[in-house]
Amino acid sequence: MPAAYEQYLVPVVFRPFAEDLATRAAALRPRLILELAAGTGVLTTGLLEAAPSAEVTATDLNEAMVAFGSAQAPGAVWRQADAQQLPFPDGGFDLVVCQFGVMFFPARIEAFTEIHRVLAPGGRFLFNTWGPLGTHAFEVALQAGLERAFPADPPRFFPTVPHGYADPAVVAADLAAAGFAVEDEQELTLQGRAASTADLATG
Ligand SMILES: C[S@@+](CC[C@H](N)C(=O)[O-])C[C@H]1O[C@@H](n2cnc3c(N)ncnc32)[C@H](O)[C@@H]1O
Repeated sequence: MPAAYEQYLVPVVFRPFAEDLATRAAALRPRLILELAAGTGVLTTGLLEAAPSAEVTATDLNEAMVAFGSAQAPGAVWRQADAQQLPFPDGGFDLVVCQFGVMFFPARIEAFTEIHRVLAPGGRFLFNTWGPLGTHAFEVALQAGLERAFPADPPRFFPTVPHGYADPAVVAADLAAAGFAVEDEQELTLQGRAASTADLATG
């Protein structure tokens, strides 16, 4: 799965946003970065390049992602970790970053509370989450295909999970419940390019 994710999904869906997030992270001049839900390491590689003097600890819940990511981005320290129960002491990082991960945390306020705990005073949490399904051309087509294939009971994963945490007011309320103040929030649309339609469909 990680190899297929890396080949078919990262270039078109994840890399453009990783480049954006790595640039934003580097502008904060962090020294000790914790990355959550790092997957195959596309953002990790971006962080190592954009902030070469920072120490990057990259984590993911999934052992197979950690194994694959640590080979892709060996300049980071890799460790398996659930964002809702971080195996790190209080205040050890000055930046926590997470690309397209928070939607998958079943208990987001718990995860945000853990992130707040491992940040040093004045530390920042920088992350992105997808907008509503209708803003994402490829997944609109995918969901339409699922609804044609399974008209009686179409899978609802795309609208409810990856695209189910898209209301900035809800996100801000969860962050506030965990002790964060929202400093900045932006809507961003980026274009990705797949090698072929078949590659994207495979992904
Ligand atoms: C859409 S992928 C994003 C991966 C990577 N950040 C990227 O941009 O390619 C979501 C990742 O979240 C991870 N994940 C899901 N639940 C998690 C949890 N509770 N704690 C940490 N990681 C989690 C998954 O294993 C997966 O690698």
